[in-house]
Amino acid sequence: MCGIFAYLNYRVPRTRKEIFDTLVKGLQRLEYRGYDSAGVAVDGPRKEGNGSICLFKKRGKVKALDEVLCKNDSIYLDAELDVHFGIAHTRWATHGEPSAVNSHPHRSDKNNEFVVIHNGIITNYKELRKYLNSKGYEFESDTDTEVIPKLIKYLYDNRENDYVSFSTLVERVIQQLEGAFALVFKSIHFPGEAIATRRGSPLLIGVRSKYELSREQIPIQYNSGDFIAGVQKRNFRNRVDSSTSLHSVCDRKAVEFYFASDASAIIEHTNKVVYLEDDDIAAVAEGKLSLHRVSRCAGEESARVIQTLQMELQQIMKGNFKAFMQKEIFEQPESVFNTMRGRICFDTNTVVLGGLKDHLKEIRRCRRLIIIGCGTSFHAGVATRQILEELTELPVMVELASDFLDRITPVFRDDVCFFISQSGETADTLMALRYCKERGALTVGVTNTVGSSICRETDCGIHINAGPEIGVASTKAYTSQFVALIMFALMMSEDRLSLQKRRLEIISGLRQLPVLIKQVLALDEHINRIAEELYQQRSLLVMGRGYNYATCLEGALKIKEITYMHSEGILAGELKHGPLALIDKDMPVIMVVMRDACYTKCHNALQQVTARQGRPIIICCRDDPEITRCAYKTVELPQTVDCLQGILSVIPLQLLSFHLAVLRGYDVDCPRNLAKSVTVE
Ligand code: F6R
Repeated sequence: MCGIFAYLNYRVPRTRKEIFDTLVKGLQRLEYRGYDSAGVAVDGPRKEGNGSICLFKKRGKVKALDEVLCKNDSIYLDAELDVHFGIAHTRWATHGEPSAVNSHPHRSDKNNEFVVIHNGIITNYKELRKYLNSKGYEFESDTDTEVIPKLIKYLYDNRENDYVSFSTLVERVIQQLEGAFALVFKSIHFPGEAIATRRGSPLLIGVRSKYELSREQIPIQYNSGDFIAGVQKRNFRNRVDSSTSLHSVCDRKAVEFYFASDASAIIEHTNKVVYLEDDDIAAVAEGKLSLHRVSRCAGEESARVIQTLQMELQQIMKGNFKAFMQKEIFEQPESVFNTMRGRICFDTNTVVLGGLKDHLKEIRRCRRLIIIGCGTSFHAGVATRQILEELTELPVMVELASDFLDRITPVFRDDVCFFISQSGETADTLMALRYCKERGALTVGVTNTVGSSICRETDCGIHINAGPEIGVASTKAYTSQFVALIMFALMMSEDRLSLQKRRLEIISGLRQLPVLIKQVLALDEHINRIAEELYQQRSLLVMGRGYNYATCLEGALKIKEITYMHSEGILAGELKHGPLALIDKDMPVIMVVMRDACYTKCHNALQQVTARQGRPIIICCRDDPEITRCAYKTVELPQTVDCLQGILSVIPLQLLSFHLAVLRGYDVDCPRNLAKSVTVE
């Protein structure tokens, strides 16, 4: 979700053109993190002895920004600058539609006194905005981020002492922020200085030096807030000089610094990096890098080490992963957490979906809920229908968008229609949305792409915050859609006394979910070995029922779309009505049998398969000897609440499809004939 990149040059004079090229290239490496708009802030000409900052922002991909920078004659492309600090950002919108004004860097005021780039979400931005508004600060964008430059200017304007340091100001800013952030600040009041900090979002600093850097330690300074600029600088120098190993990052002319959301943007410049930890504040001034924290916690490291990246550029683009799909499967502990972030209060057991709260009364009064989507997004509706029915006590229809339209399905003014879409652009879903709108229903979008057509055209919605999904086969979007719909059910049932016990059980299950997902991901090697046995097969059946029927549909879809094997998701209750004819000793069958209300019925289906010499691979709960006895192989998962189990049980099938595709020699991220966003009917 958003890529940030910054470059501080001390080493050799650079032309403005070289600086732009460095910034733009850094952004291009991070573009997979978001690509709806981009911007840079660079040093402008000096005005009456003071520095100035120029901002360039453009809606669209980084290429569009690059064109603006190349065309703009007024920005002195050939001017040589021996110290220069530029910050850059590629955005994936969460608050405010993609537009130049909503894109980063955001600024404190019309003079660009402070500018900032941000990756993450500030959850208390409304309160901060209200406060700053009351102090006379005017906002120009719809973003959460804009409170940050305004807040730092407010603190600067109201400083008690003339000599407040840049890092002290940032320290005070982050004490006011809730949510997740990686931030880089630039200011005309502190020319040539860079401040970077993070909490919950990644940020690393690359150090390129003419000296050899290897596992050197940068000591952490505490209580930097006690320092004021003059004193702070003296201390700062003392601190850095006291570290004998740091000469290499103290020689002003010997060093350049790069700040980025991930190493892919840095590796071509240097392989020496410092990874910031939550609440670290990194300050670079006069060619020196120092690290600060407000206070020291027990057991905390007292220094950060300059590490050497071992990876090649190509590898790092996908981290250690072979494909974006694999990376996205492994991101699920984090993406699912991000879907819940700031929305569930585990202390009070309440769920607030900001995008729906004003419509809640209307939704509670409705005749029925209709959930509409295509492919994986449709499966998220199937997966959650039962718990939606239970907690909302409303009839719930789940519809494939194309079929819903083909049937000219009756829709009424008192219906509430949900449109589930990762991209927010799927043509069938969009047409179904327009169809329902024309008939007066309330329309709700559940998307992963802010500013998409479905976001814009629905009356209200939920943003799933899963982060950009690049692999064509949808994985993390599915689990986040699943969680978003469960949160909706929880929000609807908040005032139902009879449902409180059930709600508490689910909320506690949601809290444990990221940890349990990690445990499932740890089965990867085991699943790879199963794939090695299966990859030459032509067909693969996936069978289950109840809460896990959607897992079978989704698993089979993953297998067919990237392995090109025939695969079918079968409702176990339907087995004897036809599919049983397919079963023999040669037909590979995967069964999902979890300990829930359907357990005995699934067991019966399992007996029917084994009685016909079928050799089922069973996805089941840990410690289930009864199931293990009947299985050819098992994949044993941690158990969670029945209605959340599908989030865990789909992951082995995502991993299996990935390994099968690799073993069959296919391009996992770009399966033939498919596209990420299906914008045609
Ligand atoms: C499957 C897959 C597709 C999409 C479908 C809807 O892995 O990615 O089935 O789920 O095309 O796309 P969105 O969710 O963007 O509307």
